[in-house]
Parts: sequence; structure tokens; C-alpha cells
Amino acid sequence: MKPSTILGLALIFGLTASPPLLADDPLAAAREVEQALHLKPDLANGRKVYLVCSVCHQPEGWGTADGTYPQIAGQYAEVTIKQLADIRARNRDNPIMLPFAMTNSLTIQDIADVSYYIEHFPMDPNNGVGPGTDLELGQRLYEENCADCHGERGQGVPEKHSPLLQGQHYRYLVRQFELIRDGKRLNADKEMVKQIQTFSPRDIEAVMDYTSRLKPPLEMLALPGYTNPDFPRFWRPITSRGPELGMGSGMGMGMAMGMTLTD
Ligand code: HEC
Ligand code: HEC
Repeated sequence: MKPSTILGLALIFGLTASPPLLADDPLAAAREVEQALHLKPDLANGRKVYLVCSVCHQPEGWGTADGTYPQIAGQYAEVTIKQLADIRARNRDNPIMLPFAMTNSLTIQDIADVSYYIEHFPMDPNNGVGPGTDLELGQRLYEENCADCHGERGQGVPEKHSPLLQGQHYRYLVRQFELIRDGKRLNADKEMVKQIQTFSPRDIEAVMDYTSRLKPPLEMLALPGYTNPDFPRFWRPITSRGPELGMGSGMGMGMAMGMTLTD
């Protein structure tokens, strides 16, 4: 998405150009996670909050198969809460999304509400996968290095904020893996960071290709033709499922303004 689109969105949603930051407080994110986990989620409010998220992550929360936008549907609320707190504490460098995660856009209650709202979204049955050329190596690496923390089938461990990796787009997985390895996700799992330092580019491609093919159980997947009934008027381009980088700014704004919630 072009900066002009993002500025457009920021204006529509009433955000200022320089939103207040959480001060450089290393414990801010951890405190917010604790608070959010103790709140009672209000799913109706989660749906309202999700309106702005849907512009990039799609009404279904599936993101885009090219991995520009991750699938967030089906992710454990515990994980989404931590990621939102990390993004706004700048433990994750996510300039595109930052204005929409700041304290003047999202309260801690909003964070809890939207995280539990998307947790039960049916997931993308056709997520982006890798080239499929080195899957034996990928499986071996996964079982030896990743399964302990992310589960044999990539199902994650919510209590440890270990994400569900099932169904995530290949290119997004590769990008996050490299950011974690290079220490650019400041609040990543320290054990994981250590463990993956020796991975070669071939290893990374192989293990993430294998991971991108770990499917969520059938009951978590959307049926063919599914669209999120909460957002019936979302405008979709015919050739693509979402706003791609480099598309005209008018599109994102049109979508944002054209969308309404049904009751
Ligand atoms: C302007 C586009 C945009 C908007 C609006 C947006 N996001 Fe994002 N979001 C992104 C991008 C891009 C990434 C991936 C950044 C990266 O590669 O590290 C992301 C990443 C995430 C992640 C991390 C997922 C993971 O597993 O690593 C979560 C969770 C998330 N967004 C939730 C939300 C929620 C909830 C909202 C609404 C309050 C929202 N986003 C609004 C663009 C957006
Ligand atoms: C010691 C436990 C541990 C090990 C081993 C581990 N991970 Fe992780 N991983 C985590 C945790 C915890 C997170 C969430 C970090 C955060 O909160 O930012 C994570 C995050 C990730 C992410 C980012 C997901 C997202 O949605 O943002 C990817 C991709 C990933 N791990 C892949 C792997 C792969 C592949 C391996 C094996 C080569 C591996 N991990 C090994 C614990 C581990």
C-alpha cells in the first residue's frame, strides 16, 4: 500500500500524523498483555474494531497469499494480543500498521476484543506455499528444531505465546523467520533466536516451505466461497484478493469508505 493510501486511511479513521508512542519502556508490552488477558472480551466491539484491520488483512483475516499481509484468522488470542502490544511498543518494526495500533487508536479493551473476535474466524484453505522442491529436508529440520515449541503439526502453544504457524503464507513465514534470526523482532523467543542462527538460505526455504503446508484441521478451514458475513459490502478486486503494494491509493480509500457493518 502506498504511503498516500495509509495517510488517507489515517485521516478517515481520525488518527493524527504523529500518534503518541508508548515511552521507551521495555516492560510496557508485557504489562499490556497481562492486562488484556484479564479482560472479558466484548466480541461485538471486536467486530467494530476489526473494520479498520479488514482493509489490509481482508474481512476474512486471511491476508494475501503473497505474504505482504499475514493471515491472522484463527490465531490464538493470546498470540495476537502479544503481537499487537509488541507492534505498538515498537518491539516489531511495522511502520505500515503502526498508526492503527497506537494507544489513540486501540484501547487495551479493544486489543482483547479484536483478538478474541478473529480467533474463531475460519481460516484460508489456500494459503501461499513454497516451491515444494525440498520438503524432505524441510520436514527433518522442522521435526528436529521447531516441533518442540510450535507443535508437531505447527499448532503452537497459546500459553507460551507460541504462534499457530499452520496456514500461514510462505513468504510471510520466511520474512518473519529472518527478522527473528537477525534480532529485529526485539521481543522474540530468545531460545528460538539462538537455535536458528546456523540455518542456511536453503534450510530456511525448506523448513518454511514444509511449514507453509501444515494445514489446520478441517474444522478450522473455511468452506469454498466463504466470505465474512460481518462485512458484506467489502469491495474486492476481481483479479486479486486484496490491496497489493503499489496499487492506486484511491482503491484503499474507496474500500475503507464503502464498508459498513451490518447489524
Ligand atoms: C495499513 C495496513 C494494516 C492495517 C490497517 C492493520 N494491519 Fe496488521 N499487519 C500489517 C502488516 C503489513 C503486517 C506484517 C508486518 C511484518 O511483515 O512484520 C501486519 C501484522 C499483523 C499481526 C502480526 C501477525 C503475526 O502472526 O505475526 C497482527 C496480529 C495484526 N497485524 C493484527 C492487526 C489488527 C488486529 C489490526 C486492526 C486493529 C491490524 N492488524 C491493522 C498491516 C496492517
Ligand atoms: C524455544 C521455542 C521455539 C523454537 C525452538 C522455535 N520457535 Fe518459532 N517462535 C517461538 C515463539 C515463542 C514465537 C513468538 C515470538 C514472539 O512473540 O514474537 C515464535 C515465532 C515464530 C515465527 C513468527 C510467527 C508469526 O506469526 O509472527 C515463525 C515463522 C517461527 N517462529 C518459525 C519457527 C521455525 C521454523 C522454527 C524451527 C526452525 C522455530 N520457529 C523454532 C518459539 C520457538
